[in-house]
Amino acid sequence: MNTNHNFDLTEQLEDFVDLPPIRNVPRENLLQTSSIKNRKKATSFQLSDLSEQENEFNISYSASKHEREWLTASLKDFYQQQWFEDILRLIKGGGKEASVYQCLANNTSQNSYLAAKVYRPRKFRQLRNDSLYREGRLHLDDEGHEIHDNRALHAIEKRTKFGMEILHTSWIEHEFQTMQILHQAGADIPMPLASGNNAILMEYIGWDDVAAPTLNTVNLSLSEAKWVFDKVIHNIEIMLKNQRVHGDLSAYNILYFDGEIFLIDFPQSLNPYENRSAFAIFRRDLLRLCEYFQVMGIRCKPNNLAEDLWLKHGYEIHPPADPRLIEPDFIDL
Ligand SMILES: Nc1ncnc2c1ncn2[C@@H]1O[C@H](COP(=O)(O)OP(=O)(O)OP(=O)(O)O)[C@@H](O)[C@H]1O
Ligand SMILES: [Mg+2]
Repeated sequence: MNTNHNFDLTEQLEDFVDLPPIRNVPRENLLQTSSIKNRKKATSFQLSDLSEQENEFNISYSASKHEREWLTASLKDFYQQQWFEDILRLIKGGGKEASVYQCLANNTSQNSYLAAKVYRPRKFRQLRNDSLYREGRLHLDDEGHEIHDNRALHAIEKRTKFGMEILHTSWIEHEFQTMQILHQAGADIPMPLASGNNAILMEYIGWDDVAAPTLNTVNLSLSEAKWVFDKVIHNIEIMLKNQRVHGDLSAYNILYFDGEIFLIDFPQSLNPYENRSAFAIFRRDLLRLCEYFQVMGIRCKPNNLAEDLWLKHGYEIHPPADPRLIEPDFIDL
């Protein structure tokens, strides 16, 4: 179904006044298609010619008026950059956090579809204990650069509206940068394509008409489960080698498609050298993962596994963080 009747963002739209400019990764850095050069020329010509009306892209997905406005504000720069032609369907969303949409890629792209992860303005404001994940992190602007401006840093500290907007962008940039690092390192994740102040564009995983399921909805045979489990551990090791802990890893954040896995959802990822709760959060990731794999018949001991992997990659085990600091993540508003 392409409809989403429960969507009401009226009171959230005010947050999108004066959106800062989007940042896009130059396509030629990511997609080796012969048509890129020609397209770049065409882009500069067409952009200068764009009228207000031409800025409005097609949304085949039957969105409510407010959702349309929200999508237009969040994705129009990607459209102008000729990443996509149309928004076909909502893959998941309509709740309090992010919504992910399947987009029809621009016809010069090597992909048929793209996935756009668009954030609720309040997503990160609802994250309880956000400082638990942000410890040691840099504050990033919409170009992915560290923020040094004292006024901005003060606003973040005081959690003013301005400060919360900066933090919102910083979370998204953090997710995008983590995806870039991990994709570069060969992890099984959707290829990150571009980031904006309120959205991330990435490779779409799935069929023409249905997105790939998350692992928690998939029943694996024992041999499949073994194979997938090893793959997940391999990816965890890639993350550890690159100083990253996922921070919200579970079968809910792994896509399963065509026998392959794709880890997703990285805003909470953290650096073990910068975050004193890293091991406790890492162990929680392993616990949640093993909950799924144990049901699939895999014998795994999450605590031992977490310790072994952690030590194998040269990290120290700090005293566990107070468990009350770790759960639950989201305030039930
Ligand atoms: N690249 C992708 N291709 C296909 N589907 C995707 C992709 N990325 C995300 N999804 C779908 O969108 C859902 C939400 O994405 P994600 O987990 O990144 O966001 P979230 O903020 O955690 O939202 P939720 O809390 O609903 O999981 C995923 O569970 C998955 O079904
Ligand atoms: Mg998720």
